[in-house]
Amino acid sequence: MKVLVATEKPFSPKAVEEIRKVTEGAGHTLALLEKYTAPEQLREAAADADALIVRSDIVDKALFEAAPKLKIVVRAGAGYDNIDLAAATAAGVIVENTPGQNANAVAELVIGMAIMAARNKFSGATGFEISGKRLGLQAFGQVSRHVAAIARGFGMEVSAIDPYCPAEVLEGAGVKPAASLKELYAGNDIVSIHIPATPETVGSIGRELIAALPKGAVLINTARKEVINEAELEEVLAERPDIKYFADVKPGNAARLEELYADRVFFTPKKSGAQTKEANLNAGVAAAKQIAAYFADGTDRFRVN
Ligand code: 3PG
Repeated sequence: MKVLVATEKPFSPKAVEEIRKVTEGAGHTLALLEKYTAPEQLREAAADADALIVRSDIVDKALFEAAPKLKIVVRAGAGYDNIDLAAATAAGVIVENTPGQNANAVAELVIGMAIMAARNKFSGATGFEISGKRLGLQAFGQVSRHVAAIARGFGMEVSAIDPYCPAEVLEGAGVKPAASLKELYAGNDIVSIHIPATPETVGSIGRELIAALPKGAVLINTARKEVINEAELEEVLAERPDIKYFADVKPGNAARLEELYADRVFFTPKKSGAQTKEANLNAGVAAAKQIAAYFADGTDRFRVN
């Protein structure tokens, strides 16, 4: 079988080497398409592929039409909003993700951003310490759980809200369940967003929540830009000169926000949460192993469609 690794934002060379070992060790061949700039390049490379490993790369109906032999796509990462699941299912293609494999990398970025915001982007202006401050986590999945553990090590008070996670799980992790989303935003010095982009969550974080943040609060988004109502975020940043927004997912109005509120916003130049040697290796190898397992005996434990 031909396994194509197609990454507009490449894995580390070591990760690619290990993906190759797993793939060839299972008797398959590996093809690599990195740093491509147009969807046609992906369609062309996938034309005779049986399996595909991607990151945030767009996998749409046109891709499935161009890749008739495709049987499985693995998103080496957590969020699979870049993959058209309905089109995959219609084309008879299995879609999987690799949950948890890059969670620690993203969590470390969250803490890094919290400190960067607390220290005024290391400008030398007097900042604050995160120890003793309140951290609110919107959702309590794999990334949040790592953030909570690290934050507690810093001496932060952590609370969270997650309709899909029982209160006992939060409490077991030393995290206080918040009564409502509004309370989470109103009652924390730093709020970190960890919800996926779904039809229900897109645009769901707007004025009502952002304006509820207490004085001097920091909102951190390492999830997806689509969950923010960007126009309302901009309005609240204009009205509340005390609030900061730090994100790993550049909003559409990033250039204007950077120009107007340089001291209070920060956006990574390229999505960097999962961009560590360790996360590349973990997620990439997990993806290769999942493909090998599927071809070996039909195992599809991480299937999402
Ligand atoms: C994820 O959903 O796993 C992260 O957003 C990582 O995305 P990336 O693989 O494009 O860095």
